[in-house]
Amino acid sequence: MSLRIKKFKEIDSTNEYAKKLVFENNSTRYIISDSQSKGKGRDGRSFVSNEGGIFLSIVKDMEELPRNTSLITGVAGAAVSKALDKLMIITFIKWPNDIILNKKKLSGILTECVNIEKKFRIIIGIGLNVNNDISAIDIATSLQKEEINIDKDLLTSEIIRNFEELYEKFLQNDLEEILDILNKKSYVVGKRISVIKNLKKIELEALKVKSDGSLKVKYKSGEIEDIYAGEISIINSIL
Ligand code: BTN
Repeated sequence: MSLRIKKFKEIDSTNEYAKKLVFENNSTRYIISDSQSKGKGRDGRSFVSNEGGIFLSIVKDMEELPRNTSLITGVAGAAVSKALDKLMIITFIKWPNDIILNKKKLSGILTECVNIEKKFRIIIGIGLNVNNDISAIDIATSLQKEEINIDKDLLTSEIIRNFEELYEKFLQNDLEEILDILNKKSYVVGKRISVIKNLKKIELEALKVKSDGSLKVKYKSGEIEDIYAGEISIINSIL
């Protein structure tokens, strides 16, 4: 197992490094760094990755992409939240890719996919603020800021262990535990939220996270729809 883990003090981005492995016949499956100089977030944004955080990419190969590939981000979110539960740190999962602690963002997930020959390589990038300085970001928190002291390596291995267990279930289409975690620990289900659609902010109610990774929502008109991506704000919340 240890040969499959590559650790860095600093790297540009663990996800980018994972992509470079595509061109080598490399058995590395976990890339971990203490900091990133070009941490990537969703939608081309950067992800502040100062020294002291957990910056982890997990690499998975697939012959074919399953219909519910977008649920893989949920699998990672469930794995992170479950790992924190074990340390008595109770978090919520903000669909589709954030982990929330005390109403602030503790962790973000960026899942990417690249094509190699006839295979697909999925790269699941997890960034978690542990002891890193996030004072410049209002909407974020870190375990240190919440005065929580944990062993970073222990948390990292717990996240990987949970991810592997839940990912195996995902592959078997045994989705009960994953959906249970995603719905019970959801930061949005049952709440009034707003999403940006066609440059317009729309208010709706989040109903549930579904097995294809989508979020079932209800518009004010009563119309029901499944949404697959979106920047969500909770109404009456800073996030
Ligand atoms: C987001 O919140 O928009 C997603 C953030 C994902 C950050 C992680 S840190 C490890 C991996 N490497 C990156 O460059 N990004 C992801």
